[in-house]
Amino acid sequence: MIEIQAVSQRFDGPSGPVDAIRNVSISVKKGEVFGIIGRSGAGKSTLVRTLNMLNRPTQGHIVLDGQEMTSLNPARLREARRHIGMIFQHFNLLSSRTVRGNVALPLELAGIPKPEINRKVDELLELVDLTALADRYPAQISGGQKQRVGIARALANNPKVLLSDEATSALDPETTKSILELLRKINRELGLTIVLITHQMEVIKQICDRMAVMEAGEVIELGPVLDIFRAPRHPVTRAMIGDVISLDLPKGVLQRVRAQLAQAKEGDAQSHLLRLAFTGSGVEEPLLSEAVRRFDLDFNILHGQIDEIQEQAFGSLAILARGSDEQIEQAKAFMQTRGVTVEELNHVIAVD
Ligand SMILES: Nc1ncnc2c1ncn2[C@@H]1O[C@H](COP(=O)(O)OP(=O)(O)O)[C@@H](O)[C@H]1O
Ligand SMILES: [Mg+2]
Repeated sequence: MIEIQAVSQRFDGPSGPVDAIRNVSISVKKGEVFGIIGRSGAGKSTLVRTLNMLNRPTQGHIVLDGQEMTSLNPARLREARRHIGMIFQHFNLLSSRTVRGNVALPLELAGIPKPEINRKVDELLELVDLTALADRYPAQISGGQKQRVGIARALANNPKVLLSDEATSALDPETTKSILELLRKINRELGLTIVLITHQMEVIKQICDRMAVMEAGEVIELGPVLDIFRAPRHPVTRAMIGDVISLDLPKGVLQRVRAQLAQAKEGDAQSHLLRLAFTGSGVEEPLLSEAVRRFDLDFNILHGQIDEIQEQAFGSLAILARGSDEQIEQAKAFMQTRGVTVEELNHVIAVD
């Protein structure tokens, strides 16, 4: 649906050139919610602006629904842009127009006849649950309601793609949740492809199918959200996931483990601290007992946690397993073949 092919963007800043995006390639599939996360200044907004050519990339290509955006003339580009909806952090509503007037604007600009505009606006207001507030002005509604207006307006021309740049960043957690639920509903009901830019992992966790992590203009990690949550590779990704689910052991648990290890005697079996990550509920216990039986291990469960990622249970279990290196390796391989990601956390218990 969207092909970002080796795109780079260099700006002339006051103190020399700035490489805002470096050689970024991302392919977004039709009908998916694709999240792009990164810290402030990572290049996210610049990248999303290249999708509709608000930024012309210095290098690379953007192909949107089969159309090479970089090569369109101004008239064709205007036409192509009508099929790309966009929502923003600060809503960008016209304060002099009512809710209804704001949603109608893109339809008026497209020269749609009045009766058809009215019908379409009614339908959109219904979709975003704003029918009762149609005649209010932006100053008379809440932030969450303003973003609903923004979404209705973005959908007016039946876009093929919806781009969202930090659309929930100015909202409280509860309102964020309801806006994300609305975006998910639109994605499912209309089959709309959504590209969502955010600096909040919570947003990614709630509605994205796949994600890319950006840092200093580059994509440092890309894949299905569940896979990346299960086994984040890059420290930046790890830190951001750590904001929403705890990847690290609570301090009290760590102290207990260290105390236990300090008492271990020479010749005792090696202890390995393992983190198991799994999806679906209730799979871990039988699997653990089976691993214990098969490989003759001894283990303690230190800490467990179940989260939800897009309506799927996502569990994480820290265990201290004792056995020979070979037994541990075999048990790890066994659990991995059953779909559990196993990570050694020994570095966190190393006492210096
Ligand atoms: N028009 C511009 N001119 C010069 N530098 C820019 C321009 N737009 C963005 N930048 C720089 O590019 C980098 C990425 O910015 P941006 O895409 O806004 O990051 P993000 O949205 O991830 O916070 C920043 O260093 C920013 O200062
Ligand atoms: Mg930004």
